[in-house]
Amino acid sequence: MSAKIIAVVNQKGGAGKTTLAMLLAGGLADRRKRVLVADADPQNTAVHWAGMGEGFPAEVEDVSGEEGKLHKALRKRQDEFDYIVIDSPPAAAAPVTGSALKAAHLALVPVIPSPLDLWASVRIREAIAHARHKNPELQARLVVNQMQPNTLLAREVLGMLPEFGIPMLAASLKSRTAYRQCAALGATIHALGSRAALAVLEVDALCREVERMLRAR
Ligand SMILES: Nc1ncnc2c1ncn2[C@@H]1O[C@H](COP(=O)(O)OP(=O)(O)OP(=O)(O)O)[C@@H](O)[C@H]1O
Ligand SMILES: [Mg+2]
Repeated sequence: MSAKIIAVVNQKGGAGKTTLAMLLAGGLADRRKRVLVADADPQNTAVHWAGMGEGFPAEVEDVSGEEGKLHKALRKRQDEFDYIVIDSPPAAAAPVTGSALKAAHLALVPVIPSPLDLWASVRIREAIAHARHKNPELQARLVVNQMQPNTLLAREVLGMLPEFGIPMLAASLKSRTAYRQCAALGATIHALGSRAALAVLEVDALCREVERMLRAR
């Protein structure tokens, strides 16, 4: 079976692209899927994450040099994996982001529930709309990251999300030190074990929802 391709994108720096990409890829690989993380960000944060430990279960490769040819390079690798997760740079107009969106079945846009982050994310909505000219099947979902439930601000910003024009994934990620620990240890959330039980539930829900979406196609 040919790999489903998930592009994690946002114009906004620090929105949680690498965190989301690595938690998702690690979670899918822990579910015995063959997963490639294509690190398209020249900062190579995903490559560094995997390099912090011994046993990250997904392959993580620097593909930032592919630039606008990334979609062609990934097409050649599609038979080797069940999922390819692309981590992208904070640059909606970069050729590598456009190429990632051209290749993808699903674009995930992590957003921190703050007005500043939402305003900055408008550019990625335009990039997704542009990519659909060549890739009309491309689905897209916002993923709320660093969610702080029960705050007035979170409720106000979450209320703004439906107007954004990209539907929201039901799964979201709260702000948790466990996610930072994963990066420090080069690990997946499951590898942290019982000390990260709530985070494991969150990542499992994320993986299940993404798998369901991509299976339904
Ligand atoms: N849900 C979360 N809980 C705790 N910390 C988080 C969470 N999401 C992201 N972070 C932290 O926020 C910072 C930015 O996250 P990350 O590097 O994933 O963002 P990014 O969008 O990939 O950034 P860049 O645009 O620079 O590539 C990191 O220090 C990361 O550990
Ligand atoms: Mg990043």
